[in-house]
Amino acid sequence: MKKKSRFDLQKKKDAGEKAVWITAYDYATAMFAEQAGMDMILVGDSLGMCIYGYEGTVPVTMDQCICHCEAVRRAAAQTFIIGDMPFLSYQVSVEEAVRNAGRFHKEAGVDAIKLEGGMRVIPQIRAICDGGMLVMGHIGLTPQSSGQLGGFKAQGRTAETARALLEDAKAIEEAGAFALLVEAVPPEVCKVIRDELSIPVYSIGAGMDADGQLMISSDVLGIFQAFTPKFVKKYADLGSEIQKAFKAYADDVRQGRFPEEIHTYKMVEGEFSKFMDKI
Ligand code: KIV
Repeated sequence: MKKKSRFDLQKKKDAGEKAVWITAYDYATAMFAEQAGMDMILVGDSLGMCIYGYEGTVPVTMDQCICHCEAVRRAAAQTFIIGDMPFLSYQVSVEEAVRNAGRFHKEAGVDAIKLEGGMRVIPQIRAICDGGMLVMGHIGLTPQSSGQLGGFKAQGRTAETARALLEDAKAIEEAGAFALLVEAVPPEVCKVIRDELSIPVYSIGAGMDADGQLMISSDVLGIFQAFTPKFVKKYADLGSEIQKAFKAYADDVRQGRFPEEIHTYKMVEGEFSKFMDKI
């Protein structure tokens, strides 16, 4: 399988084919995502909640993101990988935004970066694109500003806020982004945004009328227990499976059923008696 480029993703949109992507933060998950034929992998700053147990994404650092991107890149050499710029890695200045976007590329070999926000991050998007990198925009529910939004809440539910999202989307495309992610927005608003833009518009919790769908791997697999957004569909209950396996292992050890002989190593013939002679 040849790694997809932004042009393949654009062709998919133009042909009316859906792109599918998922988050991954570690080697094993990324390997399975590539084997399953995902079009893209996002190393999301949701790793703050899914891996580190933070309450939100705000504490996540650049170094953490780079480290997880490196692991994902090693596992999924043939998949388009997007690094997610964490809180304060692009908000402070355009220069810092370009430098940090560059770190994702130089140190972790990502194919693109994603950052949250509309009008207020347009200078950053433009400058990162001018630096020769690919940017994906992200509007709607933007978890890094959940404080301002009053929590993890759906966005664009009134005419006024929907119009503001459309203006943000158009400005992001105009600034040079190659794609846009819309999160937790009513489907009809996402459809209008998709119809008004020429770049691919992807959804997480923004309905079916998008050019593709993103889901968080920990939600899809049923291993994130803190809360489940309305837009999540669980495709497995690995949380229960893991718990069952750990409990069965603990029971086996406590009852003397593990390890058995087949789990042990044999000494070289005749060596045990020599060993005992000197004790
Ligand atoms: O960090 C992440 O996984 C994300 C998704 C919630 C869109 O940005």
